Amino acid sequence: PRFFVLNGPNLNLLGKREPGIYGGQTLADIEALCRREGETRGFSIDFRQTNHEGVLVDWMHEAQEAADGIAINAGAYTHTSIALHDAARAIRVPVVELHLSNVHAREAFRHHSYLAPAAKGVICGFGAQSYVLALQALQALHSLTLS
Ligand code: DQA
Repeated sequence: PRFFVLNGPNLNLLGKREPGIYGGQTLADIEALCRREGETRGFSIDFRQTNHEGVLVDWMHEAQEAADGIAINAGAYTHTSIALHDAARAIRVPVVELHLSNVHAREAFRHHSYLAPAAKGVICGFGAQSYVLALQALQALHSLTLS
């Protein structure tokens, strides 16, 4: 299988950005972690980041043809974007929402996700491991659809 790992706004600044909350790893470190997981478990990944909401929508549409699932850290668009909700509903590939931080232990404005009701599930609070767990969830979903 092939999974898209999509990253939204400000995640290009990981490592420098609020390391007390998001950890010291850069997005390139996290990409390497995801790639290693894929090599171990037998899936490939397409790892991307954008600061633009519409680009995330385009990539979700693209995944419909090009991927078996999407792991997405939509950053702050999680809490604002009806467009991402609609995109997740419009495609058939499963979407797993993920966050580095435990958004439920933070400010109230991070407790609501527009994306979550349109996702298969949500993983948050495990730092960079949230990405690995989201990919493992996608792989489990994928093998269920094959069996
Ligand atoms: C985040 C949590 C969001 O609330 C925040 O806007 C981010 C990062 C996380 O990975 O913990 O940009 O998605």
